[in-house]
Amino acid sequence: MEAERAKRIKELQKEKDVVILAHYYVDGAVQEIADYVGDSFYLSKVATKVPQKTILFAGVTFMGESAKILNPDKTVVMADECADCPMAHMITADRIAEVREEYEDLAVVCYVNSTAEIKAVSDVCVTSSNAVKVVSNIPQKNIFFVPDNNLGRYVAEKLPEKHFIFHDGFCHVHKSIHAAELQAAKDACPDALVLTHPECTEDVVAMSDFVGSTSEIIDFATQSDCKKFIICTEMGVFFELQQKNPDKKFYSVGHRQFCPNMKKVTIDKVEQVLEKLGSGELEEITLSDEILTRAAKPLQRMLELAK
Ligand code: 13P
Ligand code: SF4
Repeated sequence: MEAERAKRIKELQKEKDVVILAHYYVDGAVQEIADYVGDSFYLSKVATKVPQKTILFAGVTFMGESAKILNPDKTVVMADECADCPMAHMITADRIAEVREEYEDLAVVCYVNSTAEIKAVSDVCVTSSNAVKVVSNIPQKNIFFVPDNNLGRYVAEKLPEKHFIFHDGFCHVHKSIHAAELQAAKDACPDALVLTHPECTEDVVAMSDFVGSTSEIIDFATQSDCKKFIICTEMGVFFELQQKNPDKKFYSVGHRQFCPNMKKVTIDKVEQVLEKLGSGELEEITLSDEILTRAAKPLQRMLELAK
């Protein structure tokens, strides 16, 4: 990125007291300028600690909402307010109410990739990096895991003592990574390790050497002695993988490892949002007091149980 623009962004941040949080799936130029870059869990923890008055979130809506829920007194703005995760809308509060009727001893476990309204009717939130730990720490035997079916199945396999009720939500990006294409990538590079996000389908997970969140994939590759990796998650992680490991090779599986919503976040938009802040022209994240109060409980519980 041009030094001039980086300087301008930093000046605007200082002048308007803004911290920039970015997910590993956004464009590398945005990751470069952000104050904190990480997976969903790391970013929600960071959001509770930053001193700035305003959080500018370079990610998708549910991430900005979580930051607002955990910091109701701060202003939270999105780099692109249209960047939304389709999976977050794949479960309804009515379906949760129906399942609650069926089981007495039930915990509704909600992947953070969900709307604030869904968090408000859930018992605990999880992210891909803490789901196994959090679910193993809750007393209920019956677990309604929403909305992601693939992450739910992955957690269920690790915790056979629990009884899972699944939902049929999915991430279209991870679902589009096909086992046949992964096999072709493995055949082309037999000495590469396969690192996979748990939002991937069961057959892809079964062919993998390591399964973890975006941060965990980056950490694994960085600590490994291996020099080649096939990466089964959104291509945004390649930026940090390559930054931390200039001597290693990272391969994708196909051409669909691309989240169109995360890619709406650009450095131009970050700069424009910073310029407009305070002008009254920007939509900030707003949630009703009731949703803020109710959705804070499962998020705080996650932060406690994942310690
Ligand atoms: P993590 O950041 O927890 O790895 O999640 C990936 C994701 O899909 C975020 O949209
Ligand atoms: Fe949602 Fe998948 Fe994009 Fe993550 S990668 S924001 S889960 S669509």
